[in-house]
Amino acid sequence: MKIGIFDSGVGGLIIAKAIRKAMPEYDYVYLGDTKRVPYGNRSHETVYEFTKQGVGYLFRKENCAIVIIACNTASAKALRRIQQEYLVENFPERKVLGVLVPTAEECAKYKKVGIIGTSGTVSSDSFVCEIGKINSKIKIIQNPAPMLVPLVEEGEKELALPFIKKYLKVFDGKNIEALALGCTHYPFYKSEIRKILGKNIKVISQDEIIIDKLKDYLKRHDEITKKLSCGKHAKILVTDITKNVEKLTKDWFGEDTKPELVKL
Ligand code: DGL
Repeated sequence: MKIGIFDSGVGGLIIAKAIRKAMPEYDYVYLGDTKRVPYGNRSHETVYEFTKQGVGYLFRKENCAIVIIACNTASAKALRRIQQEYLVENFPERKVLGVLVPTAEECAKYKKVGIIGTSGTVSSDSFVCEIGKINSKIKIIQNPAPMLVPLVEEGEKELALPFIKKYLKVFDGKNIEALALGCTHYPFYKSEIRKILGKNIKVISQDEIIIDKLKDYLKRHDEITKKLSCGKHAKILVTDITKNVEKLTKDWFGEDTKPELVKL
């Protein structure tokens, strides 16, 4: 069985690439809902429906033993319900993990943190809630950075700079110790963000933290790990193929990996 990685678009490819590099032995399937991206400004119900369809596809058609929801919006608005209702009723032996809790655990190492995410993630207060469960004394400043998603989907770096600066301005003089990139797409700009924030602010990027958390999870869940096939294969599925989807797939997974079109 495979490891599935789900995202609303192409941003999750950054996380998929990092996971595959760290654990190349397994078989992976990535599913990006590129036809319906962005999820960040949609209602709870819609994000739940779309995420359930994506996760369901990865279980039914791709035989995944475990699915990682790389999308923060979906982790914030749909993950718990999927785990508590959909999985229990349909796939009780399989697992779905999100990126929000591992990121919150990392944030909880600091006294004052900044978080940027989509409007949906920020307004859901999911990070505040998860960090608060670990340590309610941590000070958190959130700022939505929605325009960065379409810019990544377009593979655009230069035009993104003024937006990045505008979104980070909020943290000026606030003495944050760390900034969490609470959206799959933002690691695409992490070197620009690090340059603007300087050496004294730690940038928490999910492609860097998710590896250890996943390795640890697989070590503790032998019932899942022993089902995973080790063919070193990666498959990229999308709901809409655009030039940029093809380009990013090629850039991050090599010439041989071509995105395949699927219908959810
Ligand atoms: N994948 C989404 C997230 O991490 C960003 C893109 C979107 O809004 O769909 O929140």
